[in-house]
Amino acid sequence: MPSASAVLKPLLGTLAGLVGIYAAFISLLTIPTLQDHVIFLHRVILTWGQDVNTPEQWGFLRNQVSPFHLKTPDGETLHAWHVLPLETYRQHQLELRNEPIGLCSNIQERLSFKLLKDDPTVQLVIYFHGAAGTLGSGWRPQSYRALSATSTNVHVLIIDYRGFGSSTGWPSEAGLLTDALTLTNFAMETAGIPPERTTVFAQSIGTAVAVSLTHHLALQSPPVLFAGTVLVAPFADVESLTRTYKVAGTVPLLSPLAIFPPLLALLNHFIVTKFPSKEKLAALVHHLDTIKVNGRQRKYDITLIHAEDDYDIPWIHSDIIFWHAVNATLDPPSSMTFDELEKIKAKEKVPLGDGGWEMEWKGKGGIIREQIVKHGLHDRIMSYPVCTENQHHHKCKNKAVTTATIAIITRLLGVTVY
Ligand SMILES: *[C@@H]1O[C@H](CO)[C@@H](O)[C@H](O)[C@H]1NC(C)=O
Repeated sequence: MPSASAVLKPLLGTLAGLVGIYAAFISLLTIPTLQDHVIFLHRVILTWGQDVNTPEQWGFLRNQVSPFHLKTPDGETLHAWHVLPLETYRQHQLELRNEPIGLCSNIQERLSFKLLKDDPTVQLVIYFHGAAGTLGSGWRPQSYRALSATSTNVHVLIIDYRGFGSSTGWPSEAGLLTDALTLTNFAMETAGIPPERTTVFAQSIGTAVAVSLTHHLALQSPPVLFAGTVLVAPFADVESLTRTYKVAGTVPLLSPLAIFPPLLALLNHFIVTKFPSKEKLAALVHHLDTIKVNGRQRKYDITLIHAEDDYDIPWIHSDIIFWHAVNATLDPPSSMTFDELEKIKAKEKVPLGDGGWEMEWKGKGGIIREQIVKHGLHDRIMSYPVCTENQHHHKCKNKAVTTATIAIITRLLGVTVY
């Protein structure tokens, strides 16, 4: 019979080896370049073998999507798409089909751009996609399609951030804000679409970009305020994410470290990218609750949407962001704990059965909504049908109401799943 030590020794050796490899991996994460790879996953192209200048490959109609380039003030070139509303396309199909295809060297000469610029009823969605891939990967194109089929004139603008797809450069927290501002300036200055007719739609890491952007613009004087912001599968901040993030929804990369909070805190000290969405959103809400803006009753309209079966970013993140935003609507020194808000939600949220539930909170200057759906995972959820909300704040509770609401001239976009 082998002695206990003969069994234990190799076992302990293997264990020590595994711990060593993990420790080595964790110490690699203190290197900023490697952090960027893990956080942005921008070199994981996902649309290998596809050409982002041929949107027809994703089932779009000929010239429904115009690929073009945007220059950032710091010299990067961003690859972008302009998606035409389906109904607008139908009305101009013949001319659109006859235009040249592929990357537009001058977007302003294209019919699609004129249809965006010259129609005073156009509504625009500025879209910020998640980590990894390009604007053509995963459920993203389906998501643009859902948006562009919504009503007669919802246009969508999307960029690949610096370092992603065929955009130049390397991603960073500040760089992505510059990219977002570049797209916003293009929409407001070049295309002339006022922010009141623009909604920001974002998913996953894009939500951090969206919050960073809306916070930045809201703090301008006078503030630049969009019609609304829709955040799908957001995260509270990178530090909270390190505790819960699962790569591809399965590998809890840093959970072993989370057992030892001081070690995780130490690692977070080295992580350059912070994306403090919960603080920025709270600051935005607090700021807009305390200032007067001419012509704007509702200064913010924020919707958080998360699926219960999201394995990449668990929906507790939406709970946490919602809590910070709600807490910011109270006049200091009043405040609310997480559990206090949970108790209120238990009583006041609107149950939607298998559609999940919805909770709305009115601040002095606007509205914050949390919508937790039962099904939708991390990505598929963004391709779900979209419903538009009109100025009288019709709720989209079911398909009949949704269809009716779409018929109204809309000002604000919201998303609902039924
Ligand atoms: C809640 O609001 C109070 C008062 O403004 C503030 O001091 C506190 O830090 C906030 N708490 C959170 C979790 O944001």
